[in-house]
Amino acid sequence: MYVSDLALDDFRSFQELVLSLQPGPTAFIGPNGQGKTNLVEAVAYLSTLSSHRVGTDTALVRRAPAGTPQPAGAVIRAKVVHGERPSVLELEVIAGRANRARLNRSAARPRDLLGVLRTVVFAPEDLALVREEPGVRRRFLDDLAVTLRPALAGVRAEHDKILAQRASLLKSARATRASTASMLSTLQVWDAQLAAAAARLISARVDVVQRLRPWVADCYGRVSQGRSAARIAYRSSLLAHEGAAEPEPTAEAAFLEAEESLADSAAVAVRLEQAMGDLHAREIDRGANLVGAHRDDLSLFLDALPAKGFASHGEQWSLALALRLASYEMLRHDVDAYGGDGEPVLILDDVFASLDEARRRALAGIAADAQQVLLTAAVDDDVPASLDGARFHVANGETGSQVLHD
Ligand SMILES: Nc1ncnc2c1ncn2[C@@H]1O[C@H](COP(=O)(O)OP(=O)(O)OP(=O)(O)O)[C@@H](O)[C@H]1O
Ligand SMILES: [Mg+2]
Repeated sequence: MYVSDLALDDFRSFQELVLSLQPGPTAFIGPNGQGKTNLVEAVAYLSTLSSHRVGTDTALVRRAPAGTPQPAGAVIRAKVVHGERPSVLELEVIAGRANRARLNRSAARPRDLLGVLRTVVFAPEDLALVREEPGVRRRFLDDLAVTLRPALAGVRAEHDKILAQRASLLKSARATRASTASMLSTLQVWDAQLAAAAARLISARVDVVQRLRPWVADCYGRVSQGRSAARIAYRSSLLAHEGAAEPEPTAEAAFLEAEESLADSAAVAVRLEQAMGDLHAREIDRGANLVGAHRDDLSLFLDALPAKGFASHGEQWSLALALRLASYEMLRHDVDAYGGDGEPVLILDDVFASLDEARRRALAGIAADAQQVLLTAAVDDDVPASLDGARFHVANGETGSQVLHD
């Protein structure tokens, strides 16, 4: 699929932007702080309803200079060509209120936009996928699961709500130091609800891990010229609670077996409920949810070592890049996509300048075949020759950022 038209109103540094785009590579070039990332962030936001840079939406609405009226919200519009008929997506981001959406010019819930425009973003922030806390990797898996099956967005939101409510119940139980019969029976109601939602999330993540696995190995091989083998595995707090031993990083069959045991969400829900029952006393003691989807992780290995804490800086970059390229390949090969064309728009934000020559070539090689690549760079020379295509120059002017065709 590809984006053929993009329009922004009051999004970040853009007061107004109307842009026609072509399939193939398009580069946005300009010095620091001109609005290049803002532009590609808008495209990615339409696809996932979240930003790769910020957690809150308020930063997305243009802050007008002092003395000029403050816009109430930002609007992103895009036409996406995929399958037989194009889709028109519109999203209004209103500071402090729920977003409003339109799909093909009819009112829709923002959630209805999910899955229509697929994007895969690779940006310097992605080093966090390897280095940081498990929450970053859970989000990576959950975003992919939602892209594959947009209906999961509801399960994910429901899960987070129940998790927060159960946590506050556990906190108040801790505060009153009373595990009365009525408290326990309330807790059991929450156990069942949380277990059901968490089990669905876990089985969807396991499906993502299994689809990604061959691509991660393949893409890491291409990016690192086969110097070591990258492996991924789903790390489950439920299995740990049940006493399962961690498989060795190179024991692929053991990972598969562990993941198979998490694939049936009805059975996992029963096991999770059992685990929560075992843990009630400790959970009240700690005032926290101790088992479930929110305690899981995606393990990353290079050869026999965990990537976190062992991999070099360059290896971490290669692995982060491989995870994104693997996502791109996985989605591209997903035949059930909305519109029958699952190939995502590939967005490469400011990455070529930080890669060495070999990795730059590997990335450019994969991206050169993509249906559409949007990339940003500070200077023309940062764009690899194989990605030579349309070029726009982005510059911040008096009325905000502007984009000029080369
Ligand atoms: N809500 C907003 N309202 C107005 N301006 C904003 C808003 N959010 C960000 N900006 C401005 O946009 C600019 C950053 O744009 P962006 O991150 O797209 O730059 P860039 O061209 O990608 O730069 P770099 O090369 O450094 O990555 C900053 O000057 C910032 O002040
Ligand atoms: Mg940038």
